[in-house]
Amino acid sequence: MKRLGMGGTVLLPATAWLASRTAARAEGFRGRLTRGDTSILRLLAAAEIIEWDLWLQYQELALGNAAYQLALESLDGDMPTYVRQNNRDEFTHQNFLNAYLVSKGHKPVSLEPFRSLPSSQATGANKTAKRLTNLMNLTVDTSWYTRYRSAGNPDFGDTFPQIVNLVDLPAIPNSDLPLPSDSDGFKIQLIANTAGFHFATIEQGGLSLYNSLLSKATSPEVIKIIAGIGGSEIQHFEVWQDKAGNAPLVMDNNGNVLFPQLPAAPEQTPNGTDPADAMDTNQIMPHPCKFINGDLPQCAVVRPTSIAQAGAVATFTGFTRSGLFTGQSDGFFDFIFALAKEADEARRESD
Ligand SMILES: [Fe+2]
Ligand SMILES: [Fe+2]
Repeated sequence: MKRLGMGGTVLLPATAWLASRTAARAEGFRGRLTRGDTSILRLLAAAEIIEWDLWLQYQELALGNAAYQLALESLDGDMPTYVRQNNRDEFTHQNFLNAYLVSKGHKPVSLEPFRSLPSSQATGANKTAKRLTNLMNLTVDTSWYTRYRSAGNPDFGDTFPQIVNLVDLPAIPNSDLPLPSDSDGFKIQLIANTAGFHFATIEQGGLSLYNSLLSKATSPEVIKIIAGIGGSEIQHFEVWQDKAGNAPLVMDNNGNVLFPQLPAAPEQTPNGTDPADAMDTNQIMPHPCKFINGDLPQCAVVRPTSIAQAGAVATFTGFTRSGLFTGQSDGFFDFIFALAKEADEARRESD
């Protein structure tokens, strides 16, 4: 019997072996997800829940607080409706990702046990709601502004200066403040300018995160999901990058500059050439940069896209350093960084 059994295994026809391999792979695509794909989708679901939480806070105040709304409209009259659309999109991102996980037999990701942070007490906010994110003490990384206007790429070790120093500032009001046109109107305008830059900071982080994970996915359907949702993060960033450039100069009542005048775009340049000041506010398309290999020609692309610079741990570390999670529990950090580590370690499975 033993000899027969061994012989049976050895003599299994190659076609049968191939058929079983193909069936197993098909199961991975149509049935349960591979381990790597599951890790990526779980991480993205958590990231989207976090995005939704912060965008909902922005929406409540952009639509319900007159002073904040007017100050945002100094950047663009459409800011309140764009905030609403971005919040709607984030709801659908997390909702879809969790529904997809469930459709493949996995549990949805929930951050509800960590919903513990207080709400703004300003008019418009849902004051009694508990939040996952903290928009009251943000240090906003504005280096995306200089990065996307330069030929360098963080994946090659290049670093980029801040265009504005926004350190430990609220991005939503915590109480009702004077209108922008009032004598103390600079207070709400500084908050709105901080938000205007934070909108773009969040979304560029999102698009780099999605791009960093794309090449690690196995199932064509999961690749389609990452590319599809990641593409909408790019759309968000591009709008916010344009609007942030409209943030006005803010001075206090003594003439101290709290938010500088950004480099203004020239009326026009000769023959459509690039302007002398590469940092001008109208330079919103991605400046060509190093990509893949420094010996290759420069290319206008999303950057960074490496796991080290743009992956899940890098993204959540950036969020943490910005103060977005100030007040969160150790359990929250343990949970999200465990998800992030697993996603960064995901490997594409090939035949
Ligand atoms: Fe999103
Ligand atoms: Fe987003």
